[in-house]
Amino acid sequence: MKRFIALAFSVLALGSFTVHAQQPIVIKFSHVVAENTPKGKGALKFKEFAEERTKGRVKVEVYPNSALFKDGEEMEALQLGSVQMLAPSLAKFGPLGVREFEVFDLPYVFDNYDELHKVTDGPVGAGLFRKLEGKGITGLAYWDNGFKVMSANKPIHVPADYKGLKMRIQSSKVLGDQMKALGSIPQVMAFSEVYQALQTGVVDGTENPPSNFYTQKMQEVQKYLALTDHGYLGYAVIANKKFWEGLPSDVRTTLQGAMKDATRFANDIAKKENDDALEAVRKSGKTQILTLTAAQKAEMKKALVSVHKENEARVGKDTLAEVYKETGFKP
Ligand code: LMR
Repeated sequence: MKRFIALAFSVLALGSFTVHAQQPIVIKFSHVVAENTPKGKGALKFKEFAEERTKGRVKVEVYPNSALFKDGEEMEALQLGSVQMLAPSLAKFGPLGVREFEVFDLPYVFDNYDELHKVTDGPVGAGLFRKLEGKGITGLAYWDNGFKVMSANKPIHVPADYKGLKMRIQSSKVLGDQMKALGSIPQVMAFSEVYQALQTGVVDGTENPPSNFYTQKMQEVQKYLALTDHGYLGYAVIANKKFWEGLPSDVRTTLQGAMKDATRFANDIAKKENDDALEAVRKSGKTQILTLTAAQKAEMKKALVSVHKENEARVGKDTLAEVYKETGFKP
C-alpha cells in the first residue's frame, strides 16, 4: 500500500512539474496606436523575436489601439503590474512626475533623426531612464515615430491662422505652451478620443506625425494638413521594474537582445512609414496638404522657439544645455 501511495505522489509531482514547465512567462504589451505604424510594427517584431529566441518560454501579448489600456490609464496599469510593457510617447511622462522628458517636445529642437539619436543614445537618454527607476519603471529602448504636422479644418500657414483654434495635444505642458504661443487653445485628450473629438468639433485641430494622422483616419475629419515639421514624436519602451528584474537572468538577456533588434527594426522603418502615410493622405483626396513657404516656416519658428526659455526650469537647464550641445540648436 505504502509503495502505491508513494508512486501516486511521484506521479502527481511529475504531472504538476510538467504543467509548470509548460507555462510561459506572459508579457502583456499595451499601446495606443494602430498596428500599421512604426510603434505597432515594432511591438509585433519584439513579440516575434522574444517568442522565437526564448523557444516559447516567453509569450508576448500585444494589445494595440488602446484595446487594453488607453492614455491616462496605461502608466498606472504598468506600475501596478496589470501590464508588463508599454511604449508611451515621450510627451506623456509629465503626469508621472518625470517632466524632463518634455525636452523632446520642444519645437524645432531636432532637425532630423540623427540629431535625435545623439540625444536618446547618449547621456540624456540614459539619465531620463534613470529617473524612471524610482517610479517602479525600467526604460528599455527609445523608438522613433517622426516629425509632426499640424491639421485643422481651415487653412493654417502662419501663427495668426491658429488664433482661437482648440488644438488637441498630448499630456505635456511644453505642448500646451506651444499651442498657446500660436494663440490657440490646447486641449489634452487621450489619443483614442481624438478622431471623435475632431468629428464632433470638440476640438478643431491637432498635431501628430503622418503615420498617426493616417492610421487614425484623421483625413476623414480634417480638411487641411500643414507640413510644419515643427516638433518630434517618439517613444520610450518601458517595463514594470519588479517584473523585469524578477525574470530569470538568461531570459532577461535574451529579451534584451530581442528588444535591441526590434528597436533597430522600428527605427529603420519609421521615416518610410511616415512618408508612405503622407502619400496615402494625399491620394485620399480628403485632406488638402499645405506646403509652407520659407517665410511662413520662419514665422512659425519665431513664434514657437519662445517655448524653450519658458520651459528651461521644467525640462532642466542641464538637460536642455546637453540637448543643445548634441543637436547644435542655437536658441
Ligand atoms: C498621441 O497621443 O498623439 C501619440 O502619443 C500617440 C502615439 O503613441 O503615437
